[in-house]
Amino acid sequence: MTYPLMLDVTGRRVVVAGGGRVALRRAEALLAAGALVHVIAPQVDPALAGLEVTVSRREYRDGDLAGAWLVHAATSDPAVNARVAAEAQRLRIWCVRADDAAASAAWTPAVARDGEITVAVTAGGDPERAKRLRAAIAFALAEGALPVRPRRRGTLGRVALVGGGPGDPGLLTVRGRRLLAEADVVVADRLAPRGALTGLGPGVEVIDAGKAPHAPQLTQEQINALLMERARAGQRVVRLKGGDPFVFGRGGEEALACAAAGIPFEVVPGVTSAVAVPACAGIPVTHRGITQDFAVVSAHLDPSHPGATVDWEALAAGPGTLVLLMAVARLPEVTRELVKRGRDASTPVAVICDGTTERQRVLVSTLGQVAEEAAASSVRPPAVVVIGEVVRLREALGREEPAREEPAREEPAREEPAREEPGPEALARHTLGAA
Ligand SMILES: C[S@@+](CC[C@H](N)C(=O)[O-])C[C@H]1O[C@@H](n2cnc3c(N)ncnc32)[C@H](O)[C@@H]1O
Repeated sequence: MTYPLMLDVTGRRVVVAGGGRVALRRAEALLAAGALVHVIAPQVDPALAGLEVTVSRREYRDGDLAGAWLVHAATSDPAVNARVAAEAQRLRIWCVRADDAAASAAWTPAVARDGEITVAVTAGGDPERAKRLRAAIAFALAEGALPVRPRRRGTLGRVALVGGGPGDPGLLTVRGRRLLAEADVVVADRLAPRGALTGLGPGVEVIDAGKAPHAPQLTQEQINALLMERARAGQRVVRLKGGDPFVFGRGGEEALACAAAGIPFEVVPGVTSAVAVPACAGIPVTHRGITQDFAVVSAHLDPSHPGATVDWEALAAGPGTLVLLMAVARLPEVTRELVKRGRDASTPVAVICDGTTERQRVLVSTLGQVAEEAAASSVRPPAVVVIGEVVRLREALGREEPAREEPAREEPAREEPAREEPGPEALARHTLGAA
């Protein structure tokens, strides 16, 4: 039976006997932990000699361990390692022997580190087994599959602006999952993947800041204030957004608010619906021999609107593939504008609703007819509209799904950015679950 222990080696002398690859690994780890490392070996690997270590280029000799707290016997000669271990034993200094685990007084475990968490693994003297276990633990830590949520909080929390992907929780990033597993509170948008919230631990508060149709909603200012308030209270806040936070997601505004308030924050990119929704519907936005470029455009404004800044003239002539977000309500105006400015009315178009979810539906049409057909087939947001020859690849890729009944929906979802200001009680009403 062994006694596991973590050592604070900061500023403490540690001897590494040996100058090869094992000695190099030990020295690197010791230096990272702040130790004063003395390497003793007749020949020293140049990478080891290049580190911030003291080097004695000679054989190990008795007396070398004076003042040391720890020694690694990592020479290629078992007899030398045995001498080092024997002296360490006499001086009551812990010695790790690289060549003979059974004769060693101490062992270095395989280590997985993740922020404040350190997991050390030994596996009955089988280093390969320990390394495999370490890799599995490191992955589980990284993706938040282990209970990593801290119980002790600092005085200042932090905000993570997490891109949740287009809807399928499987498309949330590993980093996003990890931050969700650590969160005290999750402030979720309407298009954030709800399935990602099901595994949250008990006591995690979920606040729905979504722009749900016909319901009071939080303004951007209220959301910013909420994020700051919770972080100042020491909470770990995840702002979970649909797709990528910086693609029509107002993530930049939230990041600026954090920066201005001096709140530590992190941005976790997400899989944007602009590319992933077409991809999951069998449409690559670029394809060799068809198009080398694509543009992603917000089409929530009528092109004739004075506030519209999209250059429809350039888009009509320009990129091979056009991807329109928030376009359902303005589909007639936008498609008319593109045809008027020169895009061929026969250009193939796909409208993909609720992409990547089990409710996904795809309408394939042409630029000249899509607005009418979308209205006739009750196309509703959220939808991504893809315009270009790449749409034809869907058939070649065999991604056309069998006709199925439209899912029943009580309310049409709204896709435009919020306009109405909610009342002061909106925040309370949006709190879905607090424990
Ligand atoms: C405010 S924008 C946010 C975009 C998001 N930040 C992103 O990177 O995907 C919302 C628009 O994204 C598109 N969208 C998001 N998720 C979608 C989905 N699962 N299926 C179809 N369209 C989606 C729709 O055009 C919707 O109106």
